[in-house]
Amino acid sequence: MGILYYGGQLVAAGTVSTGDLVTFLLYQMQFTDVVEVLLHYYPTLTKAVGSSEKIFEFLDREPQVAPSGTMAPHDLQGHLQLEDVWFSYPGRQEPVLKGVSLELRPGEVVALLGPPGAGKSTLVALVSRLHQPTAGRLLLDGHPLPAYQHSYLCRQVAVVPQEPLLFARSLHANISYGLGGSSRAQVTAAARRVGAHNFITRLPQGYDTEVGELGGQLSGGQRQAVAIARALLRDPRILILDEHTSALDTESQQQVEQEILAAGGSGRAVLMVTGRAALAARAQRVVVLEGGEVRLQGPPHEVLRPDGLLQDWGQQGAPGEGDRGSGGEG
Ligand SMILES: Nc1ncnc2c1ncn2[C@@H]1O[C@H](COP(=O)(O)OP(=O)(O)O)[C@@H](O)[C@H]1O
Ligand SMILES: [Mg+2]
Repeated sequence: MGILYYGGQLVAAGTVSTGDLVTFLLYQMQFTDVVEVLLHYYPTLTKAVGSSEKIFEFLDREPQVAPSGTMAPHDLQGHLQLEDVWFSYPGRQEPVLKGVSLELRPGEVVALLGPPGAGKSTLVALVSRLHQPTAGRLLLDGHPLPAYQHSYLCRQVAVVPQEPLLFARSLHANISYGLGGSSRAQVTAAARRVGAHNFITRLPQGYDTEVGELGGQLSGGQRQAVAIARALLRDPRILILDEHTSALDTESQQQVEQEILAAGGSGRAVLMVTGRAALAARAQRVVVLEGGEVRLQGPPHEVLRPDGLLQDWGQQGAPGEGDRGSGGEG
C-alpha cells in the first residue's frame, strides 16, 4: 500500500513529525473506525516512519476517537454549537481551550482569528472528533457529535487541516478520496474551483500523476489546493478551513475565497481560521480566540479596524498586518 509513501518521505526529511503523520491519517481515515485503520496500516506506517516506538508513544499520548454513533439524518441543517468547551492535551496541566462557546449557523461564514497557540487548530480538531472535549459539548443540529455515524460526519463536516498531506496515489484519487467513484469531470470541476486545474494539467500525467512519484515537487499551496478541492467535492453542510490560504498563490487564493463565500451563500456553514484580515472582513462574524478563550466576537466592522488590525488587540501583533499568512507553527 503506497498511501504512506509521501508522508513517510516527509517524516524522513524532517518536514513533518510522526505525530503530524498520524494526525493526518486520523483526519483522512476517520470515516471508518480509526483504531482499526491504524492497526491495519500499522506495518506500513512503521516502515514509512521507521520507528514503531514513536507511533506507540503518540498513540499512548493521544486519546482515540470515541466509537461511532448511528445517526445519519437526511435533512441535516448544519447548525454547529460548542457549549462551554474545555480541552487539555493529555499530560499537560494548562487547558488549551477554556470554556469556549461558539455557534455556527447554516449559511453563516465565520472567521476565527487569533495569535499562534491560541487553540484554533485544537478547536478544529475537536470538531473533527480527533479529540474529545475535557468538559462541555459539541452539538450538531442539537445532537452531540458522538451520536452521529463517523462516515456521515466526515462527509457532512469537511475539514481542511492546517497542513494537509496527500496520499501517494493519483491526484484524481486524492481529490475524490472517500467518495467512491467520482467522475473525471467532477474531479476536474472541483480542481478548477480552487485554481488547481492548471498546474495539474501541466504535469506529464495530469490527473493521473501519482503524488508519490512527484516526491516533494508539489508546493505547500498546491497540496492545500488539492485538499480544498477534496473538501468542496464532498459538498458538505459544514466547511471548516484552517489557515487554508497560507500557502496558496494569489490566483488560487482569490478563487478559493469566492468558493468559501459562495458556500455560505448557498446555505452551508463555513468556519475559516485565517490570518487574512481582508478575508475575515468578508465574513458575517469574526471570532477572536486568545489563550483558549473567546476574547471578542461580532460583525467584522465591530471587531476589525480599517487597517485590518483588531479593534482591541492590545500590544500583540495582530493577524492582519497585511497578509502575513500566519505561519504553520501552531
Ligand atoms: N498534540 C498536541 N499535544 C500537546 N500540546 C499541543 C498539541 N497540539 C497543540 N498543542 C498546544 O496547544 C496550544 C494551542 O495550539 P493550536 O491549537 O495549534 O493553536 P493555533 O492553531 O491557534 O496556533 C499550543 O500551546 C500548542 O503548543
Ligand atoms: Mg493552528
